[in-house]
Amino acid sequence: MADGLINLTIDGAPVSVPPGTLVIEAAKQAGVLVPHYCYHPGLPVAGVCRMCLVEIEKAPKLQIACATTVTEGMVVKTQAPAAKDARQSVLEFLLINHPLDCPICDQAGECELQDFVFQEGQPGTRYGEFAKRFNPVEDFGPDVLYVPNRCILCTRCVRFMEDVAKEPVLNVSERGDRAFIGIHPEARLDHPWAGNVVDLCPVGSLLSKDFLHKARAWELDKTASICTGCSQGCNITLDTRDEVVVRVRPRPNLDINRYFICDHGRMHYRWMNRGDRIEAPLVKKDGGLHATDWDEAFARVLAILRGASGKAVALVSPGASSEALAATKRLLSGFSWTGAFQVVMGEEAPLSGVPNLALRAERAPNAKGAEQLGYTRDYAQALAAAKSAAVVLVLDEPDCAVETDGALIYAGTVLGEDAACRRAEVVLPIANVAEEEGTFTNLDGREQRYYQAKPAPGMAQPAAWVLGQLAQEMGLAEVQ
Ligand code: SF4
Ligand code: SF4
Ligand code: FES
Repeated sequence: MADGLINLTIDGAPVSVPPGTLVIEAAKQAGVLVPHYCYHPGLPVAGVCRMCLVEIEKAPKLQIACATTVTEGMVVKTQAPAAKDARQSVLEFLLINHPLDCPICDQAGECELQDFVFQEGQPGTRYGEFAKRFNPVEDFGPDVLYVPNRCILCTRCVRFMEDVAKEPVLNVSERGDRAFIGIHPEARLDHPWAGNVVDLCPVGSLLSKDFLHKARAWELDKTASICTGCSQGCNITLDTRDEVVVRVRPRPNLDINRYFICDHGRMHYRWMNRGDRIEAPLVKKDGGLHATDWDEAFARVLAILRGASGKAVALVSPGASSEALAATKRLLSGFSWTGAFQVVMGEEAPLSGVPNLALRAERAPNAKGAEQLGYTRDYAQALAAAKSAAVVLVLDEPDCAVETDGALIYAGTVLGEDAACRRAEVVLPIANVAEEEGTFTNLDGREQRYYQAKPAPGMAQPAAWVLGQLAQEMGLAEVQ
């Protein structure tokens, strides 16, 4: 065993972990999931639910795995009859008050109460009196509903607001069988990161209004992605139902976003489902744009590029993948080219309890990647240069106000109203971030991959493929 590690046994499996590790975390390394409710690795330990009781040899009574640190030679038995019996009793107490809401509850299918009742084998309760009942639903905030009857009082939401968001607006009000989660009478749950309480709630007690009754958990396909809401680069999961993005949830990454995402990022997905997409290549004929096939569109672009020389300008979106930006650069490498992007700015909103995590003022996921590839932030200068350029290529900037005496090529997902891209010689339909695989570089220079969650509409293709194919046809070498 490695030096400096603590050696112990969990359900017969030997594990070695750093000193200070909690038994519940050591158990994960042994492949054992100890049932738990109040424990969450992103929150301070509370030890209030007692669901994680395990037997530890030589300890006089059962211990909670979430608040017990490992010691050398420790022998943990999660399946000891006394531990199983204790956990079944905890579940029996919880089921006294928990309503049989599963058929109408948004959490069904991803509910830890369902999961652990199933795992631990506690079928019901012997309690014959009335369960406690509150108002069915409380409106906590812009996107959060509280259903107190389903609450198991684990306090994860309270601890998140107090210790992570540092805005302690929630508490446990009343005591005993009258307890519920209360909100400060003059407060709303409208902190820019408040939506995380919905993810943290192990049951269907805190619900997202945005996701309410949109899908059952088992209907969702999940895809690893990167948030496009700002330059932080939070890791997310895109949940799709029937090829429509219906929910965004955090994907843990301890170096970037830990277990959280901000509400701006959480809601930044509807545009991925836009119905007004460009579905076929368009070429200018008789003064208007007409749909065509890829062969004719490629032939038109190649004719433009082969017949032009001198200056070229690329006006690109800082939300384009690094692969698409590199392909753009490659395609224009035969010209004296400049490339630029502009970034929408907003208000910075830090998550106070996590260092270096904030909704960044720069609302662009790949501005750093664009800079590393040689694109500049001097968008005004590039717009001015575009006037006299032989070729201007606009990459997914539908509202671009460019004017040029040269040839305009637009690769994009949508056509802006009255925008320059409607005067392009050729329009190339491209996939959006949910429809392709690619890479973004976040503000700290970390390159991260995102994956395809749904198909692109019509004939649209990933920009990296479209522009890369064109560069290939031009016989241009790949650029770094
Ligand atoms: S609302 Fe959810 S997270 Fe908050 S205490 Fe109740 S069960 Fe726990
Ligand atoms: S902080 Fe930025 S990257 Fe993270 S979830 Fe919010 S918008 Fe998305
Ligand atoms: S998870 Fe250990 S006491 Fe709640």
